[in-house]
Amino acid sequence: MNSDISANHSHWKLNFDDHNIAWLHLDMADSTVNLLSGAVLEELRSVLDELENYSPQGVVILSDKQAGFIFGADIKEFLELDDITQSQPFLDRGHEIMDKLAAMTCPTVSMVKGMCLGGGMELSLACDYIVATDDASTRLGLPEIKLGIHPGYGGTARSIQRCGPLPAMDIMLSGRAIPARTAKKIGLIDDCVPERQLQPAAISYVLEAPKRKRPPFVQRLLNNRLLRPLVATQMRKQVARKARPEHYPAPYNLIDLWQKYADDPKRMLKEEAISVATLATTETAHNLVRVFFLQEQLKSQGKQVEFKPSHVHVIGGGIMGGDIASWCAIQGYRVTVEDQDPGRLAQTMKRAQAAFKKKYKRDRRAIIATGDRLIPDIKGHGVRRADIIIEAIFENADVKRELYQSIEPRMKADAILATNTSSIRLEDLSSSLHTPGRLVGLHFFNPVAKMPLVEIIRGNETDEDVVQKALAFGRSIAKLPLPVKSSPGFLVNRILMPYLLEAVTMVGEGVPPEVVDKAATDFGMPMGPIELADTVGLDICKSVAEILSEALDMPLPDKLSVMADANKLGKKSGQGFYQYRNGKAVKNKDAPYADVQTVQDRLVMRLLNESTACLRENIVASDDLVDAGVIFGTGFAPFRGGPIHYIRDAGTQKLAERMDELKQAYGDRFKSDTAWAGL
Ligand code: NAI
Repeated sequence: MNSDISANHSHWKLNFDDHNIAWLHLDMADSTVNLLSGAVLEELRSVLDELENYSPQGVVILSDKQAGFIFGADIKEFLELDDITQSQPFLDRGHEIMDKLAAMTCPTVSMVKGMCLGGGMELSLACDYIVATDDASTRLGLPEIKLGIHPGYGGTARSIQRCGPLPAMDIMLSGRAIPARTAKKIGLIDDCVPERQLQPAAISYVLEAPKRKRPPFVQRLLNNRLLRPLVATQMRKQVARKARPEHYPAPYNLIDLWQKYADDPKRMLKEEAISVATLATTETAHNLVRVFFLQEQLKSQGKQVEFKPSHVHVIGGGIMGGDIASWCAIQGYRVTVEDQDPGRLAQTMKRAQAAFKKKYKRDRRAIIATGDRLIPDIKGHGVRRADIIIEAIFENADVKRELYQSIEPRMKADAILATNTSSIRLEDLSSSLHTPGRLVGLHFFNPVAKMPLVEIIRGNETDEDVVQKALAFGRSIAKLPLPVKSSPGFLVNRILMPYLLEAVTMVGEGVPPEVVDKAATDFGMPMGPIELADTVGLDICKSVAEILSEALDMPLPDKLSVMADANKLGKKSGQGFYQYRNGKAVKNKDAPYADVQTVQDRLVMRLLNESTACLRENIVASDDLVDAGVIFGTGFAPFRGGPIHYIRDAGTQKLAERMDELKQAYGDRFKSDTAWAGL
């Protein structure tokens, strides 16, 4: 390639080859990844203007970054969009530039290697052709919905035009990133090829400019004006199972947009910009952007040290240990799993196989390779080899201490020992070790494969280096590691417990469980507290509650003991607060109760108050980390941005007054924590 003409550009480089094809490289300045920031877009506008003078044979857009193609728009810029007078011009500018690219008279090709998301995907869709590498690192998607908006740079109309409404809406509504092969199959891209053939493929698309395939007949039919209302109703129903319009308006806006304008792509583009300009200024979008950054903050934990264990050993192959072991194997680690009970170990291996099949579907090679990495180890040979040992045996301090004593002499000198205990103080466990500094808490949540958070518990004696290694390990297994002080209940269970206990108290007072649960889901919790308690198991709830109630002076409602003592343990015994049929709670939808608002306030206030207490006691290092822990550990309504953020948003004074009212009516457990005043 020759003739570089990009001397005065900071982000884009342009050169021409012997075919007079313009190669337009994006290499965003001062960044390891490419983002479509305002500056990058403005420069693209001037490069496209410039290109008109050269009458190229075609244009190929590519990335010069190792990290991938384009990760999307610069989300930080979103935070500055407070009202429509700011957001509308922001969206309009993006549209103008994408339209300019789409209107080029020569063939344009997006040549994708690595991640191609959001704005990057929309830029690709504005090109005539998209070719991508077929390896696992290349994924394409339109994840805007996760930020409370939908595609806003022409991606809605253009993705639908390319692959038809069902696949396009599915990608936009789920926000998931798909491999290149799937993208090719559904028509989102034109070709996927091995990396060595990527450039020749791009050149051939420019030179041959083949006619683009239309979406299949059925997809075109579904775009028909008469059918759209029916399909849209189905889509709304599906979305409603996961998100309510008052909490998450974006998916509903997207469906409306398609239903109204699908046969007029130009109008759809215009309305898309208006819709996103409005959504971008909503509280939901701002809070979801906040959640995105909280997630990034957790992901960046554990970057201080290099820790790449070559072997992981898990002791205790029960509910938690078994799932932790198979999760680590999925993440690429060689894992031995030990249990004193051979029958239990056999069950664990069976469960792991099922998990691998579920994950890899028909990819037998991946199933076999992952299965090979997970080794049952009844005698505990893995202890000698492991760089990290994860203990997940019974929740009994004596049994755990005894185990530590017996394995320590066989452990590598620098191996770390991590316990999954949910309620025992680390200091009470480390006393049996010669080197207590090597014990750290690695508190996973149930179900391991679904819950993104892992609390990294720093005991009084834990070495800082061991904490850093545990954080790095958490990160390496694709979890969000949160450093937490060793204290009863750590962060998540401590904050969850008063909320659960309040729920049980209300049921004891005669409020139907359905009403309690609905009050919580109306607030935005993913599952009501009563159903959650039934799912965790009322015996487990009771034992954790007993430990916490003693440590934190929290009264235990009688109802919990009554249920547990009557062996009504919840989902696992078929009867708890609800009855279970085929694993599903049988609920009375018409359960009567008048004052739902008070029910909701009683639940939420206790959760908020405990969050404030954790902040005061520095259980985690900052208010952002309290919010992150509660969102990723309990599912706390992400669109509200976390408990501390919510208190500030709703008004500290106003909520404190409500707390006072509840204290008058229900007692001292509603006494505002002293930290409220400082928020
Ligand atoms: P579990 O009862 O399902 O499994 C414990 C396993 O450890 C059993 O298979 C048992 O045979 C094995 N075991 C006991 N002593 C052993 C020893 N000395 N050597 C080898 N194997 C031994 O228990 P679960 O629920 O998996 O809990 C394990 C740990 O994880 C506990 O510390 C618990 O507090 C914690 N945890 C539990 C959560 C849950 O939802 N179940 C959530 C988070 C943490």
